[in-house]
Amino acid sequence: MKILVIHGPNLNLLGAREPEVYGTLSLEEINRMIAAEALRLGLEVAVMQSNSEGEIVDAIQRHDFDAVIINPAAYTHTSIAIRDAIAAVARPAIEVHISNVHGREDFRRKSYIAEVAYGQINGFGAYSYILALNAVKNILSGG
Ligand code: DQA
Repeated sequence: MKILVIHGPNLNLLGAREPEVYGTLSLEEINRMIAAEALRLGLEVAVMQSNSEGEIVDAIQRHDFDAVIINPAAYTHTSIAIRDAIAAVARPAIEVHISNVHGREDFRRKSYIAEVAYGQINGFGAYSYILALNAVKNILSGG
């Protein structure tokens, strides 16, 4: 079971970026947590971060994964291109957010990704990714 984890724009700044909203763990530390949990669950993971919408679309189009865990960051609220790429490859996609996007500014409540995602996990800090890996394992094992 191969899982692609995509971190969207500005998530490379985690740890330093608005720590009161996104916590103090760096992306590298979060990626280590992801790798450890994937190992525990017997999932193969490839992780990428990009600030570019096109690069994220390209990665999804390569469809060399069984499921994708994606934190589209700000593109959540703007990107029909990422939404369409997820719909096109027809693989389960789990939408992840570190913060509770429904408890913040109004514009964060709109997700173009949610309607093509298997589900959305948000508000649990870095642990949102751990929940997503467990959800993926469950989905790929037959739900
Ligand atoms: C985020 C929430 C988005 O609204 C924001 O633009 C981000 C991070 C999160 O993980 O909480 O960059 O996706």
